Amino acid sequence: MVSLDYLVIGSGIAGLSFALKMAHKCPDRTVFIVSKADEDESNTKYAQGGVASVSDLGEDSYQKHISDTLIAGDGLCDAAIVEMVVKEGPERVRELMSWGVRFDTGKNGRLALGREGGHSVHRILHHKDYAGYEIEQALLNQVRQRPNIRIFQHHFAIDLITEHQLHGANPAPTTCYGAYVLDQKSGIVETFLAKYTVLATGGVGMVYGHTTNPIIATGDGIAMAYRAGARIQDMEFVQFHPTVLYDGKAGRSFLISEAVRGFGAYLRNKKGHRFMPDYDTRAELAPRDIVSRCIDQELKKFGDPCVFLDCTHLDIKAFKAHFPNIYDECRTRHITIETDWIPIVPAAHYLCGGIVVDPNGRTTINNLFACGECSRTGLHGANRLASNSLLEALVYAHNIFEYLDHQETFPEALTIPQWDDTGTRFAKENILIKHNTAHLQALMQDYVGIVRSTDRLHKAIKHLDVIYSEIEVLYRTMKVDVGICELRNMINVAHLIIGQCLKRKENIGGFYNIDLEPIKNSQYLKNTDGL
Ligand code: FAD
Ligand code: SIN
Repeated sequence: MVSLDYLVIGSGIAGLSFALKMAHKCPDRTVFIVSKADEDESNTKYAQGGVASVSDLGEDSYQKHISDTLIAGDGLCDAAIVEMVVKEGPERVRELMSWGVRFDTGKNGRLALGREGGHSVHRILHHKDYAGYEIEQALLNQVRQRPNIRIFQHHFAIDLITEHQLHGANPAPTTCYGAYVLDQKSGIVETFLAKYTVLATGGVGMVYGHTTNPIIATGDGIAMAYRAGARIQDMEFVQFHPTVLYDGKAGRSFLISEAVRGFGAYLRNKKGHRFMPDYDTRAELAPRDIVSRCIDQELKKFGDPCVFLDCTHLDIKAFKAHFPNIYDECRTRHITIETDWIPIVPAAHYLCGGIVVDPNGRTTINNLFACGECSRTGLHGANRLASNSLLEALVYAHNIFEYLDHQETFPEALTIPQWDDTGTRFAKENILIKHNTAHLQALMQDYVGIVRSTDRLHKAIKHLDVIYSEIEVLYRTMKVDVGICELRNMINVAHLIIGQCLKRKENIGGFYNIDLEPIKNSQYLKNTDGL
């Protein structure tokens, strides 16, 4: 049993920035971070475009950022939260820079700002096309210098500890006392008994067959919180990024940043037609839910496997300076940006919903907080504005820190039972997990993708129930390992997504069901039959 003050689950931007602030302010308290892979493996590490925040008060304003966020969110954002996040943004970005994050500057020494879909002005602070890597490394450097922070890499949080473990049922309101954590090297499940627990476990991309997310993105935090009885909302708003490199393979795919369209690239179909102006007056710079659906429509119209991003008319020297990572990746795949169009398809990218939190990051479970992609704050509504995610993570990590810093008393420690796996056996083979994981991903890709139908959603639930029953039996009888825990979590997340899709009765933002009324509230759509 390990006893500590603050347990942080996840070492991306949300978890690390919270840990850093808490440990700095309270050097006599212990902050433990558990992370299931290498300490830097996270969605954060792969972020390309950068952080959206108002920094040029000449061209930009808080009002413009607020308005762009609200338009992208299609009427479902919480306006007060949008205002809070946007206005807090510049201070959080300054703090990030004070921790060593270098954002690109222009010749005049001022921040060089990028533009992405849905933004009315240049607003994105970036570090070439690998802002996330820069942020992750800078935060880890800071964290390593804090003696009261300990990072446990390759430690997998299995379940939250609540009254359920004490009494066999969750009362309302429930309280969280930490988590059961699997040390992946020893195979031992340890009890991390914490006064406060912060979920910062990131996204769910791996639930789909095609995603931009790394393999850690299996929705563990959302599934754990759900099993503990926390409120989960807006799971139907899975965001599909429009421009992901098409290589004909399933699994994780390389992202071509939205900033490339902000830089002037065009979307063309196989015939070479630039199709986005046919659909939306903002053309390639429409919010990504719209661009993804338009691409989906073009693919279905012509039966093609991909469309193309054309950069051949751009200033290639400037392109290489701005997007060295994308340029090199394309070259490795024998795509010469100067002359070739980049084959692309949309893929699952980001979850707008998740664990419901209040402005202080408090979940509906006492002493349990959530921030970053696993949380649902009200900022994104039905569709996240590009590059608002890193910003949201920073702001909420800060708000949780502020809230906890003002707590005068610590909750009382309880006697918690150790993990009990008597009667379970080691799995003899892995094939059932592998097969069911692939089955689940194909199911979500084919039945719960960009364009949905009520019939397909019902079919998806039926198939999922079969996988669920098989895996629950296995989970109860075998010694836990990461494979079974992740699959169990992905099944929970898939259930939440499909269930909440079926409850949504209007097409809005990133949610589209062909059996519901066409979308009619956007002033930008043209000739699309409400696409
Ligand atoms: P993550 O960074 O994903 O970190 C989650 C952490 O939790 C990881 O350390 C993981 O190992 C750990 N974890 C998960 N489950 C467990 C468990 N059971 N036990 C222990 N540890 C666990 N957003 C922007 O704003 N701008 C961008 O330019 C941008 N570009 C992107 C590009 C790509 C390719 C991708 C995939 C996303 C991009 N996003 C971008 C989205 C953004 O990167 C993420 O939403 C954000 O980084 C999430 O941060 P996080 O700290 O919440 O989670
Ligand atoms: C991108 O660079 O296109 C990703 C930006 C984001 O997801 O916010």
